[in-house]
Amino acid sequence: MGDFDADWLRLRAPADSRARAADLPLLLRPHLPKGQMLRVLDLGCGTGSNLRALASALGGEQAWLCLDADTDLLDRVAGETQAWAQASGFDWDASNQRVTAAEPHLTYTPHLTCTLATRRFDLARDLAELPLEGIGLVTASALLDLVSESWLAGLVSQCAKVRAPILTALTYDGRVAFEPALSLDREVIEAVNRHQGRDKGFGPALGPSANGRLAILAAAQGYWIEVRMSDWRIRRSERELQAALIRGWSGAAREEAPASDQAEIAHWEAVRLAAVERGCSRIIVGHRDLLAIPRRA
Ligand SMILES: C[S@@+](CC[C@H](N)C(=O)[O-])C[C@H]1O[C@@H](n2cnc3c(N)ncnc32)[C@H](O)[C@@H]1O
Repeated sequence: MGDFDADWLRLRAPADSRARAADLPLLLRPHLPKGQMLRVLDLGCGTGSNLRALASALGGEQAWLCLDADTDLLDRVAGETQAWAQASGFDWDASNQRVTAAEPHLTYTPHLTCTLATRRFDLARDLAELPLEGIGLVTASALLDLVSESWLAGLVSQCAKVRAPILTALTYDGRVAFEPALSLDREVIEAVNRHQGRDKGFGPALGPSANGRLAILAAAQGYWIEVRMSDWRIRRSERELQAALIRGWSGAAREEAPASDQAEIAHWEAVRLAAVERGCSRIIVGHRDLLAIPRRA
């Protein structure tokens, strides 16, 4: 099991789904291959939430190849996609791992056939081997803040060579706002953002600067770029998600902070958790979605 277990991905899924920029898949659609199967490469797919968020918005015939280094997560992609398909009123063909919506369930997609395949793949180690042949869309959600500048430059350059559009979602951008506010909030989040720059397996991580760097690197490779804010707006009732974030941030801040600040951060965590428990805490976490379309030659 890696750092991102299935429980954490399930916990964040409702906030992810509310936050995503709904218009980017629609802006992308006219730039997808016409009259043929859309092949999608999903990088760091986890349990497949990016497929479940995008498939119906993109519509048509799709074949997804979902890559992740964690086989525990990959093993859950089919089951979670089946549950989503059934809850959405779509058909699920287990033997072919295929979702079909034959009826016009959706206002803007008359038809959807989406086949999924998973593959264990170490993106950090094997970027040069990315299976990009025939790929009509490269996508990733909640991944880019983990990667390094050189890795991201390599990815963009490979996508540009095959003229593949890129759609990334839910890249953390460093902004966090709390209600109620505490005087230590800013210091804690600044420490968290420094911690975000630690190596997550890809070299020094871009953390909050990842989305901006992607925009610059892709524009330099001849893409036009659309960026949207896709902030988590975490509700008072989402106590478990809030508590997990606060504990994680407190731990990260303490790893960055000197010994003299440890007690103060522990106190911050206790006060924040008490507010969550009372149901009077709300948190906004800044994220960005980005669409990059190759310009015509
Ligand atoms: C925050 S999770 C996002 C998962 C999923 N895209 C989502 O939005 O729910 C980051 C994912 O990146 C994967 N990951 C991290 N390092 C990786 C690597 N070197 N190669 C492949 N996948 C990796 C993790 O296993 C995890 O599934």
